[in-house]
Amino acid sequence: MKAIVARGFGPIADLDYAEMPDPVPGKGEVLIEAEAIGVNFPDGLLVQGLYQMKPEPPFIPGMETAGRVRAVGEGVSGFEPGDRVATVGSLGGYAELNAAHHSAVMKLPDAVSVEDSCALLCGYGTSHYALKQRGQLQPGETLCVLGASGATGLAAIQIGKAMGATVIAVASTPQKQDIAKGAGADIVLGYDDLKDRLKEATGGKGVDVAFDPVGGEGFDVLSRSMGWGGRLLVIGFASGTIPKLPVNLTLVKGYSVVGVFWGAFTTKEPGVYADNMQELVGWYLEGKVKPVIEGVYPLADAPSVLERVLARGAAGKIILKP
Ligand SMILES: NC(=O)c1ccc[n+]([C@@H]2O[C@H](COP(=O)([O-])OP(=O)(O)OC[C@H]3O[C@@H](n4cnc5c(N)ncnc54)[C@H](OP(=O)(O)O)[C@@H]3O)[C@@H](O)[C@H]2O)c1
Repeated sequence: MKAIVARGFGPIADLDYAEMPDPVPGKGEVLIEAEAIGVNFPDGLLVQGLYQMKPEPPFIPGMETAGRVRAVGEGVSGFEPGDRVATVGSLGGYAELNAAHHSAVMKLPDAVSVEDSCALLCGYGTSHYALKQRGQLQPGETLCVLGASGATGLAAIQIGKAMGATVIAVASTPQKQDIAKGAGADIVLGYDDLKDRLKEATGGKGVDVAFDPVGGEGFDVLSRSMGWGGRLLVIGFASGTIPKLPVNLTLVKGYSVVGVFWGAFTTKEPGVYADNMQELVGWYLEGKVKPVIEGVYPLADAPSVLERVLARGAAGKIILKP
């Protein structure tokens, strides 16, 4: 099979598009023939050795595969060759074939496209878990989303609306702000004077729930813009800067800072994860959420696509096709 291979940790441009042995499904595994492969920001960190997980090279990066079952390994029931499925894991996605453990594979309803299913996994899965279990977002509350034109940000806007919140989206350029507006944000802001703009937008009350995949200065502003009883959700650090928090702010303003790690959640709380995915797919089928797919590119283009994602060039979900 063809795959993108990291021969060591280093620049994204060093990734190889190469012939690799076809994976054979082991005990409990499902072999999936990829029709769509999701690109995620952490893939770009991982291949450079900048992510919390450091696999032994050579390895195939990529978290999301959607397509059809080609074969199943020993002990697998409930899946047959030809079934439409999607899976999410840590590695192995940027390839024509992916062998995944059956517990991480879900069947796709006919109405869910392979491209959208990739977006619904890590991007929507993270934002849903963040807002529902970690943020306890309630109808009528205000939700502020940073990085609002990115994969997790757009998902947070739509999920926030589906949960009945008033959504304030923050993005860096007019074009990105338009994308956030198109995804359903009630109010769209840039980063200039953000503290004052958030104060105005919340009638001086402060933000109830903040969703921060960016870190850096944006986090600093949020830490001074939270309302009483608010929840500031730490999703990621796309800016490259892990912020420091003067904890007295949480005392004075009476808010909580809550960490979100979706990958760990899927393995530590598989039952809740399964319920979440069912709810998300239900919202998708009802038209309450609809992934914004920025583009579909050949698998061989993975390095240039990943470089663009890490250089602030993403506006929605990017898909690779074998
Ligand atoms: N905690 C979890 O479980 C979890 C799950 C998935 C992803 N993440 C993390 O969340 C972060 C965002 O992921 P994503 O999929 O939403 O990424 P994305 O689609 O690339 O969006 C990230 C957004 O961050 C903003 N940004 C600001 N400064 C940036 C910079 N220097 N470089 C790149 N982007 C910058 C950009 O918007 P503007 O230009 O408008 O600022 C961009 O749209 C990543 O750090 C990722 O690792 C965490």
